Amino acid sequence: MKKEWMALAAAALLPGAAQAGTAADMQALADKNGCFACHGMQSKLVGPGFAEVAAKYKGDSQAAARLARKIREGGKGAWGPVPMPAHGNLGEADAKQLAEWVLSAG
Ligand code: HEC
Repeated sequence: MKKEWMALAAAALLPGAAQAGTAADMQALADKNGCFACHGMQSKLVGPGFAEVAAKYKGDSQAAARLARKIREGGKGAWGPVPMPAHGNLGEADAKQLAEWVLSAG
């Protein structure tokens, strides 16, 4: 009985990064990392609107991994000559979640 209780407690304490973030969590994460300085949810600011990104890569099963890398390393050329700066401080798991969240925007 005591053992079961310990296992339950351990499960409850697992880091949140292991779970998919809710939309509100993801919005907060994007906000915290300054994404909205250059991206609108719908429309272009400096970079493309996240809904535009989702539409462009619809059906592309490789897009999440590619975008996660681009968010961390930066890059240009997909939308124009203006580069996105690197976000090297962002962990791989966070970058992947952000990429998947962007792809689900729309
Ligand atoms: C200083 C401005 C700036 C910031 C801050 C920024 N971006 Fe970008 N982002 C851009 C620009 C410019 C592009 C277009 C790059 C290109 O044409 O390839 C872009 C492109 C993208 C793309 C599409 C990439 C592609 O290859 O199609 C995604 C996804 C993205 N940004 C997500 C994010 C996320 C998530 C954050 C926050 C962690 C973020 N951006 C922060 C400017 C920014």
